[in-house]
Amino acid sequence: MGKPLPTPELKRDDSLNVKDNRTGKEYTVPITHNSIPATFFKGIRAPAGPNDRPEDETERGLRVADKGFLNTAVIESSITYIDGDNGVLRYRGYPIEQLAARSSFLEVSYLLIYGALPSGSQLSHFTSEVLLHGPIHSDAEGFFRAFRYDAHPMAMLTSAFSYLGSYYGEANPSLQGQDLFTKAAKGDAVALQNMDRQIFRMIGKATTLAAMAYRIRQGRDFVVPPTGMSYTESFLYQLDHLSPTDQLSGPQSYKPHPVLAKALDILFILHADHEMNASSTTVLQTGSSLPDPFSAVAAGCASLYGPLHGGANEAVIRMLLSIGSPKNVPAFLEAVKKREKVLSGFGHRVYKTSDPRSFIIRKVADEVFAVTGRDPLLDTAMALHDAALKDEYFVSRKLAPNVDFWSGLIYRAMGFPMDFFPVLFVVPRVVGWVAHWRQMMLSPSGVKIWRPRQIYVGPSTRDYVPLEERTGAAQVGIGMEPSVIEHSGMTKRRKLAETGDKVRSKL
Ligand SMILES: CC(C)(COP(=O)(O)OP(=O)(O)OC[C@H]1O[C@@H](n2cnc3c(N)ncnc32)[C@H](O)[C@@H]1OP(=O)(O)O)[C@@H](O)C(=O)NCCC(=O)NCCS
Repeated sequence: MGKPLPTPELKRDDSLNVKDNRTGKEYTVPITHNSIPATFFKGIRAPAGPNDRPEDETERGLRVADKGFLNTAVIESSITYIDGDNGVLRYRGYPIEQLAARSSFLEVSYLLIYGALPSGSQLSHFTSEVLLHGPIHSDAEGFFRAFRYDAHPMAMLTSAFSYLGSYYGEANPSLQGQDLFTKAAKGDAVALQNMDRQIFRMIGKATTLAAMAYRIRQGRDFVVPPTGMSYTESFLYQLDHLSPTDQLSGPQSYKPHPVLAKALDILFILHADHEMNASSTTVLQTGSSLPDPFSAVAAGCASLYGPLHGGANEAVIRMLLSIGSPKNVPAFLEAVKKREKVLSGFGHRVYKTSDPRSFIIRKVADEVFAVTGRDPLLDTAMALHDAALKDEYFVSRKLAPNVDFWSGLIYRAMGFPMDFFPVLFVVPRVVGWVAHWRQMMLSPSGVKIWRPRQIYVGPSTRDYVPLEERTGAAQVGIGMEPSVIEHSGMTKRRKLAETGDKVRSKL
């Protein structure tokens, strides 16, 4: 018997056949990485049908509708991978569990931004650059003091990143030329250095700005970032150290508790990136028109501030406080099932099983409670967690705990006020944002402005009607005319007073 014939390699046709039933034409759409290019559909044109409006632009090609980006890949990325069905999260290929157990926040930052785990000398170069860039111009004190005493720390932090950008004209493409950063993709070493300088600045100063936003609320003086501490130790020092003079007296006289610093370091690793979430998408969307990176990060802060994104851990605490004790858990879950309440900290757009970060964070919570004392809310949280995981309603909908279910409890145990929780999310997420921004600037095909399309469903063309001919009939629907609002007493008095020409004419 001769040798068996080699089996011919099964060639798969990676394409999609589409038939446009309006015209009978057939198209073959290429499939790459299990995705189809939306722009291909622009070439599929048909004469306008009887039900088409001119605004449908039928002859100009099909549009792809995806409200809320439910199934649109906006970028090719090598940074983070999530498998939501199997509860997998990897940074640059490394499982989050291994990084949380063995790495440190700045090492993970290096990995996310530069793509590989650093050597010893690479890590010490990166660490010293980041920590070196912690201090900020003393003028910034005036900036923070300009806020009202009760300003939300996120309002301060969002503005502070934008303010920070105003110091660095060399980082502003509006002043220096629009290819200031994108020319790094063509091998311009100076552009690359400029980009990395801004990255060191943003990570280094994130803790400084966050601590200043915190201290202004506490009525404390600001401190200069310390030397010789890790990133999270330095952050805790800047938040809590009371005497600004101590740092001048040789060896550091204030050192945060190592368990708390380590816990924060792990929390920072878990929060550093999560691929195309709302705030990272916002940073890229903003970055795509090529403003300075500080403005893009400020936009990311604004997006993260929303309760659907960075505010969920705070919602968990408020929910647990409202439940009050484990005995009220069954009644609360019944209310959730009747859709009268939401179980905050459960469910996720991507994860359809437990969020892998929730297991890690649960362990960190125990370590923190061992030092800070047990939060009585934990009993309610545990009772809620266990009951929901056994309940058919949550099981059948694949609703499992997400990272926010536990993180708020840790922050609370560490003594942070609730409105500071989103700030504790922003500081590590700056790393994910700058990693995505840098990847976009270095894209070999250049940066295209992110300009999505819309489906216009408003009125077709109509002629202007002079004021005297308008009937004033109310348009049907919610929000179709300006609301009538109640004015404050001060405004009422001002409205009753006479101003301007009326007063002058009587003088
Ligand atoms: C995260 C979240 C917004 C994801 O939303 P989504 O992907 O659009 O999921 P859906 O709204 O399609 O949920 C599917 C089903 O589960 C239900 N559901 C989802 N999350 C729920 C929750 N936390 N409590 C109760 N029911 C929930 C929905 O009502 C829906 O039920 P139905 O199919 O009977 O209508 C949502 O799970 C949620 O609001 N969770 C609580 C807030 C939170 O913890 N956010 C932090 C995320 S990291």
